[in-house]
Amino acid sequence: MNRSWAVFVSGKGSNLKNFLEIEASGRLNNQRLSLVVADKACPALEIAKSYGKPQFVLSPKEEAFSDLLIERLYQEQISDIFLMGYMRVLPLSFVSKWRGLLVNIHPSLLPKYKGLRAVERAYAAGDRKLGVSLHHVVEHVDSGELIDQRELLRQENESLEDIFVRIHSLEHQIVEDFLIRLESEASAR
Ligand code: GRF
Repeated sequence: MNRSWAVFVSGKGSNLKNFLEIEASGRLNNQRLSLVVADKACPALEIAKSYGKPQFVLSPKEEAFSDLLIERLYQEQISDIFLMGYMRVLPLSFVSKWRGLLVNIHPSLLPKYKGLRAVERAYAAGDRKLGVSLHHVVEHVDSGELIDQRELLRQENESLEDIFVRIHSLEHQIVEDFLIRLESEASAR
């Protein structure tokens, strides 16, 4: 096993579920989802529980946040971190420590619409081209090197809800392709 992932979540957990389903399909021989980290109780934790995954809830208000988090990641022998709808900005020292091993999925065509409510802002601006970015996490929010990016074209009169559905499935596809690519790279070694 050469990658042991921690997935960080704050919300519904559709991306977490997608990762768990890919793992359950038996296509990951060199990667494992080992820990789910959340900043608060959220539906994603129910999904983690239903797959029997260890979970760790840690409020960023916690004074020793970074130390406690790093300790738990070491305990679980985590090698890589995937932010999947984690709605907090991680401390700079933490990001520096994990640089290169930390990725994020973001629902916009970065560098457009960094930060919160990216889909809503693109929709309100009337953008015809929306999309999803998978990128490395660096010290500035949503600014790291892109790993992959995909577009979708807004249909005439398409509702925000419908766009969200398509954004989520594009996210799931981009993540699946990324994990499978890592898998082939690991097997080729
Ligand atoms: C996703 O759109 C992700 O790109 C963004 O937050 C959302 C999380 O959705 N950062 P879910 O919790 O995975 O359903």
